[in-house]
Amino acid sequence: MPTNKIAIIGAMECEISSIKQELKDLKEIVYADLQIYTGNIKDNFIILSRSGVGKVNAALNTQYIIDTFKPNMVINIGVAGGVDKCLNIGDIVIGTNLVQHDFDITPLGYAKGCMCIGKDKSKPTKYYCDNNLIEKFQNILEENVPKNKIHQGVIASGDQFIADRDVKKEINESFDALAVEMEGCAIAQVATRNKIPFIVIRAISDLADGDMSNAHAEFEKYSQVSSQAIKLFVDTI
Ligand code: ADE
Repeated sequence: MPTNKIAIIGAMECEISSIKQELKDLKEIVYADLQIYTGNIKDNFIILSRSGVGKVNAALNTQYIIDTFKPNMVINIGVAGGVDKCLNIGDIVIGTNLVQHDFDITPLGYAKGCMCIGKDKSKPTKYYCDNNLIEKFQNILEENVPKNKIHQGVIASGDQFIADRDVKKEINESFDALAVEMEGCAIAQVATRNKIPFIVIRAISDLADGDMSNAHAEFEKYSQVSSQAIKLFVDTI
């Protein structure tokens, strides 16, 4: 029996392709347009998936993988836009908690991002990454990447590609967010509901400010940064 069953989810092919190359006994499953691969790395059974972009794709994918494979952890990888001043392109963000910046029932008296869960209407709903996984990734990355390129903090997800300085500023200030992307919080929400530890690891591919002249090449390039972090992690657990 493998030691761990690890679900690794990325939205785009470039975010998962280099991990796919590492899988031994590779098998492929296509379900409801989800592309899923299984295989082994060392003693670990890996369920690797390209979910497609956005929160609904990510949620559908996560629940399918949990129901079908019963992983003992879920990892979301890929690129993100940096919205905090401390970030540079190529940095890595280890999510500590995830919010949905586009969840908006403010006309009913709720704070932006508050999802009607619990009694407190005044704060966004946060989904917390697993502390053990945060610590493991921090330690592994510190051994391989300059420390000033590794950050921990809030990642904000939404069904929007952020490419505007004012929107970026608002998300940074309202949620104290370091980075924006389009799937992490959906995966976090589903994993939390299923009581499965999760983590989100993202490499910064842009600064969410509209300069997208070289976007596809940048996605390819910086996807490799988060894939590399996952390979190091899977190799060492
Ligand atoms: N993924 C990478 N960059 C992003 C951005 N600026 N907004 C949303 N998702 C992203």
